[in-house]
Amino acid sequence: MCGIIGYLGNRAAKDILLDGLRHLEYRGYDSAGIATWELDGFAVVRSVGRLDSLVEKLGAMELRGTSGIGHTRWATHGRVSEENAHPHRSCDGKVVIVHNGVVENFLALAAFLKEKGYFSSSETDSEVLANLIAYHCAKEVDQRGHSAFLEGVRKALLHVRGAYGIAVMHGDFPGEMVGARNSSPLVLGVGDGEFFFASDTAGFASHAKDAVFLNDGELVHLRGGDFSICTLSREKVEAARRAVEWHEALVEKNGYEHFMLKEIFEQPIALENAMRGHFSVDGSNTHFGGLQMSPMELRQVDRIIFCACGSARCACLAAEYLIERIARVPVEVEYASEFRYRNAPLDRNTLVIAVSQSGETIDTLAAMREARRKGFRVLAITNGVGSSIAREADGGIYQHAGPEIGVAATKSFTSQLCIAAMVAIYLGRLRDLSCEDGVEMVDALRQVPKNVEEILRLDGEIRSIAEEYANYENMLFLGRQSMFPLAIEGALKLKEISYVHAEGYAAAEMKHGPIALIGENCPAFFLACDGRMLEKIQSNIQEVRARGARTIAVISENCSAAASMVDRAIVIPQTHFIAQPILAAIPMQLFAYHMGVLRGCDVDRPRNLAKSVTVE
Ligand code: F6R
Repeated sequence: MCGIIGYLGNRAAKDILLDGLRHLEYRGYDSAGIATWELDGFAVVRSVGRLDSLVEKLGAMELRGTSGIGHTRWATHGRVSEENAHPHRSCDGKVVIVHNGVVENFLALAAFLKEKGYFSSSETDSEVLANLIAYHCAKEVDQRGHSAFLEGVRKALLHVRGAYGIAVMHGDFPGEMVGARNSSPLVLGVGDGEFFFASDTAGFASHAKDAVFLNDGELVHLRGGDFSICTLSREKVEAARRAVEWHEALVEKNGYEHFMLKEIFEQPIALENAMRGHFSVDGSNTHFGGLQMSPMELRQVDRIIFCACGSARCACLAAEYLIERIARVPVEVEYASEFRYRNAPLDRNTLVIAVSQSGETIDTLAAMREARRKGFRVLAITNGVGSSIAREADGGIYQHAGPEIGVAATKSFTSQLCIAAMVAIYLGRLRDLSCEDGVEMVDALRQVPKNVEEILRLDGEIRSIAEEYANYENMLFLGRQSMFPLAIEGALKLKEISYVHAEGYAAAEMKHGPIALIGENCPAFFLACDGRMLEKIQSNIQEVRARGARTIAVISENCSAAASMVDRAIVIPQTHFIAQPILAAIPMQLFAYHMGVLRGCDVDRPRNLAKSVTVE
């Protein structure tokens, strides 16, 4: 949700900032802008729309400054317009700022600043922040002289309520830059005599050697070829550096038309990576190095609460079916945004698991903090190495799915399903799951990458189905048991990518309301992969057909009896129930992708969305 970038070094900042924004554009794409420090002051260039419009606007502009900041926006306060685009400048022209987050008390701050003669020209909370910093820096300069910049930012932030990841420059201190974070991510990149700020390491990974992940309430001061970190209460912080990993191939499209399609096709590898090193030598169990919980402690757990948002939450719903069936541990799945304010009563032996691709989703992070504040142990399943969620969890499991650039979760979703399946086996083996059953499940998971490759070969067929259905504006996704969460995910994928209104329902529950929608204008997409439920789902298919609706179904080989009942069947390999959700997800992703493309949608950057939601 908004990407910010900063550069201070010896090279021309413009191209480095644009390159960084290109890699951060998945975080928001309503507008973009940069500010560089030139010989005659700040040059600020902003543009509405995608980064390409900013690049066009910058054209042959000669910007030679070796320091600057940049921003790609997902609008919160203020509509999408050039004046609301970042970087924002204080009204005295001295401060420029890029901001990711929301200043909740910005109206009170704006009123205070107005009295002091600092006026805003945009509708944004971020411009208020620029003015607040300018105001405090001016006071510091009067009192202290040279170190006033850092102190001015620090004092300003003491008055701010809300979330921010910021990079700030001040015209009176041209060789300096300050970054700070609270609840929105910010990483410092350290190169050879040059420094970077970015919302995540993708912003500078091709330039910097090391990264320092900042914690809430920390400020970084870049000055004199060095950096220092302190807290809002002025305590010095020792920087924990980590080497930056960079895989260019993973952040380029490599011949695919869209990142989403590339990432769908990367799933066999992403799943291999999710499983690597987690199977026991005898192939009957799984293990995880980073849980920080002994088998004895895990044995005591008598309830698991999953907290997540969006697709990650759908993965948790599937995890609920698997863990309850395999390990017999009661599971609940919470919308992270609800959990954090609900003050739900939790039993002593409850384990909370936060699931997040990015590891930066603010609602999931806040839910996890709430659970930890109450003294509960929180594990994380995340793809975001070094992310806020990874750092704040008591332990966890990395997905190792590689960067996911397309806004829709695809490979991260199936890798979460795969980890959930492995966790179910582990918890099951700590309880009543037999060695033979463990072996069967591990074997099934080992086959999954191959099964997925086979399903990916159905891409052409799935595209032809999408061609037939591309003009519908409504669709129902229906499944039973562990296919029900997949129905919810299928509907989510379709609506976000193709803007077709879709709902995911438990197939039998459809009769209690949604069936009213069914008819020739509302086809149904069934997930018929669970042999135990075959007859039941066949009845549901008949109920829909009887009302004149067209039907598509993803069908496992063992459920092929259902194929003759639907208009279009996508037959996928038969597998153990533990792996069914993973396999069923692939055709739905391809269907949503092709529907989006055929309907002329920007599937990698759907309207109004952003990859990492760092505001509440
Ligand atoms: C849907 C999608 C979103 C995310 C959600 C959580 O395709 O991508 O619904 O799943 O915003 O994001 P993470 O997993 O980063 O916490």
